[in-house]
Amino acid sequence: MKAKIIGTGCQLPAYTADNEYLSTLVETSDEWITERTGIRMRHLVQEETTTSLAAGAAGKALAAAGMQAEEVELLIVATITGDTETPSTACRVQAELGAVNAVAFDINAACSGFLYAVHIADAFIRSGVYKNALLIGAETLSKLVDWTDRGTCVLFGDGAGAAVVAAAERGGVVAQSIGSNGSKWEVLSCAARPVRNPVRRDEEPCGYLRMDGQEVFKFAVKTVPLCIEDALEKAGMHPEEITYYLLHQANKRIIQSVAKRLKQPEEKFPMNIDRCANTSAASLPILLAQMDAEGKLHPGDKLVLSGFGAGLTWGACVLEW
Ligand code: COA
Repeated sequence: MKAKIIGTGCQLPAYTADNEYLSTLVETSDEWITERTGIRMRHLVQEETTTSLAAGAAGKALAAAGMQAEEVELLIVATITGDTETPSTACRVQAELGAVNAVAFDINAACSGFLYAVHIADAFIRSGVYKNALLIGAETLSKLVDWTDRGTCVLFGDGAGAAVVAAAERGGVVAQSIGSNGSKWEVLSCAARPVRNPVRRDEEPCGYLRMDGQEVFKFAVKTVPLCIEDALEKAGMHPEEITYYLLHQANKRIIQSVAKRLKQPEEKFPMNIDRCANTSAASLPILLAQMDAEGKLHPGDKLVLSGFGAGLTWGACVLEW
């Protein structure tokens, strides 16, 4: 038995900010952002929360799968921007949905989080521990971003995507390649709140996202093709057999570079980065849900999902729709 996606959904905040608007906040331009990243606009939360976006996306995924919330056995939320330090976002989503029988927990693997969630769910399903799982990537990155830092604030957006996976004999996850390199953690990080206890008083302000953009870029264009090739080799498949490559939406130029490296046409690499920017762990499930809703995915299609992010972390998953 393997984990097979049987329903998807996504939820984006109502408010959108275009590049022109950002150029009123920091010294930047629509031209610079579009040319260097492919981003034209991003959704930002006003009333919404990480939990409400996650629950919205999850509700749609359950409806698409024809499942009741009480049937969910495993509920994983991949996020770095929960609404509370504790409890987990997964527990709060469980309460919102009424998924009373689920084991619920969060994972932190930054932008690779959804792939890590698939990895965990597939292992549980293959081993027979659970028969299904609700996997959610949900972020409100806008609260981690320093809105005076043009090097990062133009890149990120808020949103959530979800997928229901269930045990299936045919189709589903065929092979994965996944990894982490903690020695490079400083390349992309966000400090936790400072220690202020009776015996120590850290003076640093609350942390914001800090990134060495060029290092991340180099890491991504090198590592993503390698892990996709590794996953394809494990699957016994050639790049040509893949219908679509869904890559983490961080930068259009990274996606184009991966397409070139794999010698595959760019049309096989769908993008929503122009509208959604980088939504971290939510990026892949949002793209997947949008393609599903547009009727672009058909039974038997072979997909590769691949991403990278803080940690450093990365992953690729070959699956049959
Ligand atoms: N608007 C205008 N100018 C900007 C800018 C902005 N928003 N951000 C940076 N610049 C400036 C820099 O200050 C620099 O100016 P200088 O030459 O006077 O010093 C110049 O643009 C070039 O900066 P550089 O960092 O070399 O640009 P780049 O081509 O590497 O693009 C990124 C920057 C961040 C878009 C790119 O490195 C990137 O996408 N990296 C990967 C980031 C990522 O994916 N992060 C998430 C991982 S999950």
